[in-house]
Amino acid sequence: MLAANWTGASTVPSRSLYPHQWSWDSAFIAIGLRHISPLRAQTELETLLDAQWGDGRIPHIVFNPSVPLDAYFPSPDFWRSSTAGRAAGAPRTVQTSGIVQPPVHALAVWLVHRADPGLSRARGFLARMYPRLAAWHRYLLHRRDLGGAGLASVVHPWEQGMDNSPCWDAPLSRVTPAPSRSFRRADLAHGAPEDRPTDLDYGRYVRLATDYREGGYTDGLGEFAVEDPAFNALLIASEHALAGIATELGATGTARHARAERLTTALIDRMWDPASGMFLCHDVRTGELIPERSVAGLVPLLLPTLPRALVTALVRTAHGPHFGLGTTTRLAPSYDLLGEAFDPHRYWRGPAWFNTGWLLERGLRTHGERDRADALREAMLDLAVTSDFAEYVDPYTGEACGTTGFGWTAALTLDLLHDSEDPKGLKDPKGGNRG
Ligand code: SER
Repeated sequence: MLAANWTGASTVPSRSLYPHQWSWDSAFIAIGLRHISPLRAQTELETLLDAQWGDGRIPHIVFNPSVPLDAYFPSPDFWRSSTAGRAAGAPRTVQTSGIVQPPVHALAVWLVHRADPGLSRARGFLARMYPRLAAWHRYLLHRRDLGGAGLASVVHPWEQGMDNSPCWDAPLSRVTPAPSRSFRRADLAHGAPEDRPTDLDYGRYVRLATDYREGGYTDGLGEFAVEDPAFNALLIASEHALAGIATELGATGTARHARAERLTTALIDRMWDPASGMFLCHDVRTGELIPERSVAGLVPLLLPTLPRALVTALVRTAHGPHFGLGTTTRLAPSYDLLGEAFDPHRYWRGPAWFNTGWLLERGLRTHGERDRADALREAMLDLAVTSDFAEYVDPYTGEACGTTGFGWTAALTLDLLHDSEDPKGLKDPKGGNRG
């Protein structure tokens, strides 16, 4: 399946629904690929980072020029990266989108390196990736600090990756949708409409992206700006990984570890909600937390320096009635089982995804919750196979939703099949666990 989705320099998430290279998909795919071909895993990430913009952003899609324009919307002629993004340093030759996706990349680069350090050193992999990853983090922590708390904001729901999560309903309701006749969706040709976002949501996505493009992709406080716990937790985990990379390259990672710890504190101050026992999104426009429980609010379990009381609360919430992990559900749903907007099949409004499962499994293991991590791992391996590597599944029944043969589902399954290393190695690269 990963071989079928390989294009020669990168892997498509799905031949039909997503026929280009996606940023966070590629990072997860590389994490799995490293077990069967460290070279391909390195190439996957190199191809993505070759499309990085001068301002440091890594675009969420790198377009394959041989795919017809109407195979995916929004296509390159919508984003017009090389012209509209010129001032922001968009590449001249390759066409990309202008928004970003969650920063899993430094973590992926570090894990890929450790799968075959000899090959990585021989190819100068880390030395080439490090400055690019550092620029990427600089972009997020400076240009995207729209809330002034030192954390990164997303300016479009697609940037956070969980496109139509109910968390965006309130901030998106302030956005005037683009008229539906002004664009033509391609996703409905490949997925059941009841598994996909609505036309009204699509109109709002198009409006936000159009306005961003018309402003030359410069960053400032626009109509939509949200600090999200998963996006920032991945940035922090990646900052720890970057510290490991720096150390491997003979520099010191101490400052980066310290920064990751400071960011963890900022995340807690800004987004921890004691009443719900989890993190919530922060709407930068209103200055308030968004009262919706999304799996994104459990992802900070990944962070090695999370205080024990918060770890305990997150584990309890994940296994409690809102997410039902190990009781009513086998894989954590993307959204609150008891939430009004819960829908077990519609894209990010309830179904369970394998990437968030993988992150939670890693988080549980990081904090010594071995039995729970093992149980989640078993459930993921089983559901991946029985769903034919679905894009997402009904959290209660495991029924396949979206598309099948999905890249990161296959890749992360592969990763789970290999002996899991102790993810704590991320916290202190000197603490063993280097190879
Ligand atoms: N995930 C989005 C889509 O469905 C945008 O990247 O196309």
